[in-house]
Amino acid sequence: MNADTVNVPAIWKSIAANTHIQFRLADFDTLGNPTTGIIHIPTAVTSFANSPSDHKINFATLGGANAWNRNHYLNIPICNLGTGILGYTQMPGVGTASKDGCVINYMAVGKTGATAPYNLGRTITHEVGHWLNLIHTWGDDYGYCYGTDYVADTPNEGNANYSNYPVSTVRTDSCSPNSPGFMWQNYMDYTDDAGMCLFTAGQVARMQATLAGPRDSILSSPAVWPAAVKQIDWTAAVSIYPSPSKGVINIRLQGMTGKTVIRGFDISGNQVLERTLENPDPVTGFDLSYLSEGVYFLEITSLNRRIVRKVVLIR
Ligand code: ARG
Ligand code: ZN
Ligand code: CA
Repeated sequence: MNADTVNVPAIWKSIAANTHIQFRLADFDTLGNPTTGIIHIPTAVTSFANSPSDHKINFATLGGANAWNRNHYLNIPICNLGTGILGYTQMPGVGTASKDGCVINYMAVGKTGATAPYNLGRTITHEVGHWLNLIHTWGDDYGYCYGTDYVADTPNEGNANYSNYPVSTVRTDSCSPNSPGFMWQNYMDYTDDAGMCLFTAGQVARMQATLAGPRDSILSSPAVWPAAVKQIDWTAAVSIYPSPSKGVINIRLQGMTGKTVIRGFDISGNQVLERTLENPDPVTGFDLSYLSEGVYFLEITSLNRRIVRKVVLIR
């Protein structure tokens, strides 16, 4: 899905890999209330310190914002980090929950209003790589060849690559002296945004292992609607009456076509009813007097719509 994949030079094509990882903005906050997944917090702090040991960005009491539960959310606080750093991230399996996530300098976020050459969104790509346990391709040894990113298919690299080159430029150094050289186009180097265009199969395996391991709880996060539930049509013209009811309810279905399935659930989610209507009449009556007093939910699914409504039974 990344348009930059066309830039991957021929020498790296066979090891460039699809991560098969997609992110969603949260549909629910930590209290279960609807959210766009983006919140804005006014602060009196003009510049946050550029290190994970500084607490302020992660604490509302210090002018930042409290992280949402890291088991269910990837937090990306965006703030002024001063000059010199674009972002930093706490690796999985270490550190404190309250400081987990990717802290990003506002001038290196997105494509609009960001500062060149960090204005193509790659700072978050790089930091999320760290969040999924990737290490810099030069092994963080700053000029030597002993450092490693523990990924077999990224070439050994002496120091970080800064700046940028035409994408198929072969760059060599003392750790990778022969063509194809080191992989300066990797998202986990320090190259300018425009030059970054790939993760490798080995890096993808490491990220997937993280999602199968220390960060596995994000996969079943209650913060997003499951894909199917997203299709609920709250505006459809369905009415259920009377409610409260002593037992018999009428369901008026307008705009539902074809085979329609009605399922009832109690408030604990136990299914208490299932009825299939091959060709629904505008009004269908149901006798629910076998159910005890309480609140129930009816999920009505037809070919074209999915609707959930509440019904209250009294005695
Ligand atoms: N952690 C790195 C730094 O701030 C981020 C590098 C991001 N690189 C980029 N081209 N956006 O130094
Ligand atoms: Zn980094
Ligand atoms: Ca190195």
